[in-house]
Formats: sequence, structure tokens, C-alpha cells
Amino acid sequence: MKFQKIPAIKSSEITEQSIFENRRQLIKLAMVSTVGLLVPTPSMAKIYSKIPSGKQSVNLETTDFKDVSNYTNYYEFTTNKQDATHLAKNLKTDPWSVTVEGEVEKKGTFFLEDILKNNALEERIYRFRCVEAWSMVVPWIGFSLADFIKQFKPTSKAKFVEFTTLYDPEIMIGQKTKVLDWPYVEALRMDEAMNPLTFMATGMYDDALPNQNGAPLRLIVPWKYGFKSIKAIVKIRFTEKMPVTAWNKMAKKEYGFFANVNPEVSHPRWSQKRERILGASIFTPKRTTEMFNGYGEQVAGLYSNMDLKTFY
Ligand code: MTE
Repeated sequence: MKFQKIPAIKSSEITEQSIFENRRQLIKLAMVSTVGLLVPTPSMAKIYSKIPSGKQSVNLETTDFKDVSNYTNYYEFTTNKQDATHLAKNLKTDPWSVTVEGEVEKKGTFFLEDILKNNALEERIYRFRCVEAWSMVVPWIGFSLADFIKQFKPTSKAKFVEFTTLYDPEIMIGQKTKVLDWPYVEALRMDEAMNPLTFMATGMYDDALPNQNGAPLRLIVPWKYGFKSIKAIVKIRFTEKMPVTAWNKMAKKEYGFFANVNPEVSHPRWSQKRERILGASIFTPKRTTEMFNGYGEQVAGLYSNMDLKTFY
């Protein structure tokens, strides 16, 4: 599967000079001459299959790719879990750019291809749980959000990071409906964003992300309910005030800003104590949901002064 192609425009025109220089070094290291900038890169699939496993890849049985890629939540296309697989095929993910703005020293719009060259890709196998009570274990490929953020030098006023999905109702036909107030927006507190578990995924299962799973760039926050993991990100904004997220705006009582996986706090319409393992037979018993989705050791400290029944 092909992923990013080098755009015809010169990289020095789109990338800040220091990043560009750094990138040239990386390319040299990869034994590709700078003339190679004008020829297509090797298939990203080949690159992805060589990604080293990250520290989090421990003892979790992964869910089948076919289940993860055919049961998705992508309201920009449909509220049905199966149809985004074909509806999202028309989304053009190459070239793709991401705008960084707000409380940062280095603002700008950057090609994803350049972002990928400047951020070491690794694999992380994470458990993922949707607020609708199914769970799955996915080998994501991507890079650390914290390392990415540091490159833009957030100011001392940056207390939150807000992410926005593409708005293109001609392609994302669900955006013609009022099911959410578009575009989809999600956000994290700065310390959540800088936690080493927080991840920007560009691939899964040794290949680029399928469109329905959020290609070409999505967030993964493994200790929070799935709706925090926003897909098809085009904008990242650093703010002083807590941003209003799409789900929070839609149903404040059901989808709080923090959205930490918490079996003790029921969703108003259903319990969060158990989860159905995606792809398992109907005879497989449901799994008991763990606090922070099992990542409490790494993240509970972020919330030690907070009543998580109030800040759900
Ligand atoms: N991002 C966007 N832009 N639009 C969405 O509808 N759904 C969220 C999240 N990210 C969603 C989104 C929800 S509710 C879940 S559970 C996860 O994506 C699902 O990720 P998956 O479809 O890859 O399983």
C-alpha cells in the first residue's frame, strides 16, 4: 500500500529551515541522495513492517485486523459501524497538512510527510475501549505526541491542546447532517498530552492506517474512552482555556472532558463495568473493565487531586 509521496513543491518552501536541514540529514542517513527528494519514497508499507516495537507492546493478544477495520466509529461518514469502510475510501489523504497554532512559538502549516520524517515511528500495542462498551487491542504505528509537541515550543500559557478533524462535507457526507456540530474537535490537558503513553498514529498492523480508522493521522489516548482518539487531524491548537469538544457540546452529561475509562462511573444510559471483546464469539464472557483501561500505573497520578465522579 502506498502512503506518502513527495509533493512536487520543494520541501524547503513548506518546512521551516531547521526542520528541513534535519530532514536532509535523516535522508542522508537513509543512504538516499538529496536528488532522491524528487523521486517517490519507498512504499510506506515496507517502512512500517520494520518499525521497532515500543515499550508498551507487552502480553496483549491483538484483535484481528478485519474486526478493527470493519467496525469503526466515524460520524463524518456514518453513524453505522460498518459503512465507513467503503464510504471513507474517497477521502484523499495524500498530500495532507497539519496546522499548528495558538500558544506556541513555532506556528505554521506542515506537510505530514515532513512530520513523519522528523518523528521516529514505532509500534505500540494498546488496549482501546469505546464508551459504547466494546474493546480491542491494536498494534498502532506512529510517534510520541510529547516529542512532536516539543518541536513547536509551547508557551507557558499553553494549558490544553485542541485537535480538529478535516471539514469537507462533499466527501465526509455525514457532515451534511447535524449529528454533531462539525468539525469534530477533541482536546487534552497539557500534562495528558505530554504523557509518554499518548500517541499519534499514522499506521496499524504494519501498514498505513485505513481511512476508516482515521488516516492519515489520528490521536490515541489508551486510558481514555475511544471518542478522545480523534481521526483525520488537520489542526492542533494550544490554548490557555479548556476547549469545548464536539461530544461535550453535543451531550455534556454523557461525555465529559476527561473521559477516563472508569468502571465506577456509569454512562447515564449504560454501565461501564464490562466490555465486549471485538471479534470474540457471543459465548465469550464480557471482560471486566479496568480503571484507566489498565494503564493506571502510568496515568493515575495525573488525576490524584480530582474527584473522577465529578470530572468524568
Ligand atoms: N474521530 C472523528 N473525527 N470522528 C468520529 O466520529 N469517533 C470516535 C473516535 N474518533 C470519531 C473519531 C469514537 S466514538 C471512537 S470509539 C473511536 O474513534 C473509534 O476508533 P475506530 O473507529 O478506529 O475503532
